[in-house]
Amino acid sequence: MNLESQTSAVTCERRGKIFLVTIDNPPVNALNAAVRRGLMEAIDKAESDDQVEAVMLIGAGRNFIGGADIREFGKPPLPPSLPDVCNRIESCSKPVVAAIHGAALGGGLEVALAAHYRLAVAGAKLGLPEVELGLLPGAGGTQRTPRLIGARAALDLILSGRRVDAKEARDLGLVDRLGASEETLTEGLAYTQELLALKARPRPTREAKALEDTAASLAAIEDARAAVTRKSRGRLSPFKILEATQAAIEQPFAEGMRTERRFFLECMDSPQRAGLVHAFFVEREAVKLPETRQAAPRRIETVGIIGGGTMGAGIAVAVLDAGLPVVMIERDEASLSRGRAHIENVYDGLVARRRMSADAKSSVMNRWRGSTTYESLADADVIIEAVFEDMAVKEAVFAQLDRVAKPGAILATNTSYLDIDAIAATISRPQDVIGLHFFSPANVMKLLEVVVPKRVSADVIATAFELAKKLRKVAVRAGVCDGFIGNRVLAVYRAATDHMMEDGASPYQIDKAVRDFGFPMGPFQVTDLAGGDIGWATRKRRAATRDPKARYVQIPDRLCELGWFGQKTGRGYYRYTNGSRVGATDPDVQAIIDAERRRAGITPRSFSDEEIIRRYMAAMINEGANVVHERIALRPLDVDVTFLHGYGFPRFRGGPMKYADTVGLASVLDDIRQFAKEDPQFWRPSTLLVDLVERGANFASLNEGTRDE
Ligand code: 3HC
Ligand code: NAI
Repeated sequence: MNLESQTSAVTCERRGKIFLVTIDNPPVNALNAAVRRGLMEAIDKAESDDQVEAVMLIGAGRNFIGGADIREFGKPPLPPSLPDVCNRIESCSKPVVAAIHGAALGGGLEVALAAHYRLAVAGAKLGLPEVELGLLPGAGGTQRTPRLIGARAALDLILSGRRVDAKEARDLGLVDRLGASEETLTEGLAYTQELLALKARPRPTREAKALEDTAASLAAIEDARAAVTRKSRGRLSPFKILEATQAAIEQPFAEGMRTERRFFLECMDSPQRAGLVHAFFVEREAVKLPETRQAAPRRIETVGIIGGGTMGAGIAVAVLDAGLPVVMIERDEASLSRGRAHIENVYDGLVARRRMSADAKSSVMNRWRGSTTYESLADADVIIEAVFEDMAVKEAVFAQLDRVAKPGAILATNTSYLDIDAIAATISRPQDVIGLHFFSPANVMKLLEVVVPKRVSADVIATAFELAKKLRKVAVRAGVCDGFIGNRVLAVYRAATDHMMEDGASPYQIDKAVRDFGFPMGPFQVTDLAGGDIGWATRKRRAATRDPKARYVQIPDRLCELGWFGQKTGRGYYRYTNGSRVGATDPDVQAIIDAERRRAGITPRSFSDEEIIRRYMAAMINEGANVVHERIALRPLDVDVTFLHGYGFPRFRGGPMKYADTVGLASVLDDIRQFAKEDPQFWRPSTLLVDLVERGANFASLNEGTRDE
């Protein structure tokens, strides 16, 4: 063995006739400048060493290559560029083999595609997820992939960003060989030996022929364009992906590479790319907390759930899907069977759509156990209550838990608004009490607010984050207050929305403006979906304590008094005929709004869509700043993650606080001061916002550890 050292990020070693090139840049072997340089040098060395007959690329650690180094984005580029590295690999005069395990994503797959032969072992994940970061594959991915596997399959991969496993990659033609075992090094060396024995020649992917049927390839582009136009309105990179792929069909390789580069740089410079990269990093940063750094999580093997209603059943599905057993407690046998039926409904839906087999369903349901006695919770490591939102009911439940739960069991509440410090204070073990605020439907929505009361111990917080990971949720740490992070901020911008409606904007115009901004639904559509009765009940509960000077719009109450709760009653802000889930505008609603405006003495005025968004966002950002200022959210990034995963905030804008930084905090503050002239009670600039503007700082400066631009 002959060890030749290089940059530490890429090491080379001769194994007989094979030049083994190992990419070793933890944690994911991202292709930073050192790796790119190392790969260039490695190919040069292999080329000039007469004893070398083939080159093999492999990744150290858990992955082949996780892609270009996302941390370098937005910074001045350092040579060599990745396209140059890929071209160098492809032009090597000796066969180059990529032996793939773990992630071969983005630039990682592009490196593999520049190699002449590819082997993947079980567990490998191959993909071109650049679109998720607002980019397109920028190192030949849009040129080599379609030439290798055809335009239709390439567009599917590049536009969806989906990861394929080794077997699917082989079926698609992305890789040539599956490893018989997971020993990548052994498998890769054996494959390379085999190729040498066959006197295999370098086989540049640029010469692959899958685009030869030009008409079929162009038809694939047109089909994809129709889908993109429907699904990715307002997004830049999907459209650039179409154009770059079309260039692969219509232009010679070198020209196609230049076209791809031009579009790649255009996407790189876009605010959408900055927003999406921000989202990528803040999701990973949100779990880095004092408590998760300090304390080891407790064991989680069994989960107890109290209540089998909307939330209890959804949480149960999330827990069952994570492979954990569930014990569900309900008030009586009838409620318990309803709880079980709610869960089975979810799985029956999957079985009907052939996304689950009947056997798989019964094996999942075997992990579910129901009971009407609290003693059945004696073994549970984490117990989550999702009973009625009523302090007396919650306190009674916690008294039972205090009696039956084993020492060290985590006692969690899914309350939306109640004071968790007060709940914890009623039992003998407040250190074990925490909020786990799931969102509806709990088996679908990604967000989990981990609500941290004063007396909870650090390892309980660490365990909550561990549980979130097992449930594949995105967890955010929140402090105790009315509504925690998400619902507290929601209450404020929702009020701003009602003000606009009363002042002259129709709910339909507001919904459309908000959708055009990038949300999947407008606020009135959300109310209709969730049920107007929920907010009505909360408003009635709070009527006595409401500040009499605060503006109160009564339009929602008028609709609820008519029993118009939204989709479930067929009428809300929209009309839903014959069980339709798509609402039609309703002149009767407009008449109610007109009447309410007259009653309140308001002369309606017109709003531009732009003003609607300015007010909507100013209210959201200002309350987001308050939440950070009061340390309900430790950092602005926690607000961003909450809104990205719990409230449909458009990911390409990075979250409300990132959006605020993008438009400039001074301009947001100016807006708020302007709006305050009409309603100073409602529009009170957040102390934090004022302070940041005075210091010329932004929210990103408070996101310790994130790499924001
Ligand atoms: N660049 C820089 N850092 C990266 C990175 C990348 N491409 N991918 C992951 N990281 C970092 C993460 O930020 C995290 O850092 P932290 O520990 O400081 O928080 C660390 O690596 C581990 O990441 P994960 O927590 O995500 O680890 P997992 O093991 O769960 O997943 C992975 C590994 C599957 C590689 C996942 O990280 C991933 O999907 N990464 C992004 C892949 C991607 O989008 N690649 C395309 C990049 S764009 C590109 O290649 C452009 C090209 O076409 C020119
Ligand atoms: P739900 O009314 O659908 O279900 C509550 C269930 O609890 C019922 O099945 C009831 O039989 C059961 N229950 C009541 N008292 C009980 C007791 N003492 N012991 C055992 N079971 C008991 O209510 P939902 O919507 O599931 O809400 C539950 C909790 O989750 C509430 O605190 C709510 O604020 C919170 N939440 C609700 C969300 C939603 O969108 N519905 C979202 C996030 C949190």
